[in-house]
Amino acid sequence: MLRIKPVESLLTQAEEKKLHRSLTGLDLMLLGIGAIIGTGIFVLTGVGAGMAGPGLTFSFIFAGVACGFAALAYAELAAMVPVAGSAYTYSYAVMGEAVAWLVGWNLVLEYAVSAGAVASGWSGYMVGILNQIGLHLPDALTRVPKDGGLMDLPAILISLFVTALLVLGTKESVTINRVLVAIKISVLMMFLLVATPLVDPLNWDPFLPHGWFERAADGQNVGVFAAAAIIFFAYIGFDAVSTAAEETKNPNRDVPIGLIGSLVVCTVIYIAVALVATGALNYQQLSDSKEPLAQVLRAIDYPWLANILAVGAIAGITTVLLVLIYGQTRIFFAMSRDGLLPPLFSRVHPKYRTPHTITIITGLFVAAVAGFFPLHEIAALSNIGTLFAFIAVAAGVMILRVSQPERKRPFRVPAVWFVGTMAILSCFGLMLGLPDETWERFLYWSLVGMVIYAFYGYPRSPLHPKRRNGG
Ligand code: ALA
Repeated sequence: MLRIKPVESLLTQAEEKKLHRSLTGLDLMLLGIGAIIGTGIFVLTGVGAGMAGPGLTFSFIFAGVACGFAALAYAELAAMVPVAGSAYTYSYAVMGEAVAWLVGWNLVLEYAVSAGAVASGWSGYMVGILNQIGLHLPDALTRVPKDGGLMDLPAILISLFVTALLVLGTKESVTINRVLVAIKISVLMMFLLVATPLVDPLNWDPFLPHGWFERAADGQNVGVFAAAAIIFFAYIGFDAVSTAAEETKNPNRDVPIGLIGSLVVCTVIYIAVALVATGALNYQQLSDSKEPLAQVLRAIDYPWLANILAVGAIAGITTVLLVLIYGQTRIFFAMSRDGLLPPLFSRVHPKYRTPHTITIITGLFVAAVAGFFPLHEIAALSNIGTLFAFIAVAAGVMILRVSQPERKRPFRVPAVWFVGTMAILSCFGLMLGLPDETWERFLYWSLVGMVIYAFYGYPRSPLHPKRRNGG
């Protein structure tokens, strides 16, 4: 179970079962921004404001800094091992197959499950817009069972639509991604331009109504750190850049640019948006809204701009879905290529050159999550899985510096011991801020994963001793 996969073999294997190399550094940065800005800032800002008040600004800073440490670690590994599979692949090369499997299994939380949360955020805005134009869908078709409906049909449909795009090919999807990224950045800029002059400093007083970390009367965590643990969701996706390393023209240079560039851009935007949103509207009103940023514009008497923002949000959230489902398929692809998942999963379509089978399976899974489970619960679960993967990657960078110091590193994390340790501590700190039931689900999920590994992946792995000895 501790067997590792040598970096050389990872690189050769990638050469054998090739994905098409067509992406540039700018493509990766846009892919990153496309993956990052979505349901988190457009929808969960309200939830975060309810937990931390204007102190939400600090929450975005803390979560952003934690991601920054992790992004540096990702950049080193992704440039060194530019093959599909992200944290899963790196863990395989450093910490052995069992840890790699566990990381890969938890990446399903980060990609497929969060794609579900994103699709459900998309549906919220879509249903809102449809209502504005007088098209009212029955509650049974727009609400998940826990909220008294049958299913969230728009969330299911958008998941399937995006899946179809991905089956048709990366390049096409990347082009659509560019347009949509431009739209969502524009609506957020518009939000800042319009709302900033109307900020009332009285709304910032008190700035920390729930302090840094408290337990509310109902047992829920509140305060700046608890909000950081939830709005961390808004940053998920920058590492999706690394899942595309194998399809990048010049991964050594382009992957660090894509990872760190996209994270910096988004962090700056988030901090500004949180500060302005809580300054323009009282945080309690923000927290009551399912479309908090549009709500700010309505409250300051720009209803038509609110609608434009909502349309932009729908477009922007779509790109997030695109990149997350894309990332998930590439991780499954890598796991299947390694023999830990059925070979069917790594089949590449002869014409489109995409792993079509696994893309379709992933799309169906995302649609099911989005269609039947509530957003905030899915988001918290994907946060915990993601933070776990970030910790594994940070640990991986440090271990590899000791075990293979001579290996060529096109990008080196500066002050690696400090950055790596801070990445682990800050990510674990964020995990601690999540609700108890999220921890329970995470532990069950991991347990199920280990059972599957024991009965499927372990005996089938090409690194299994019997196979290696030819027997
Ligand atoms: N960061 C992504 C979002 O906010 C997952 O929707």
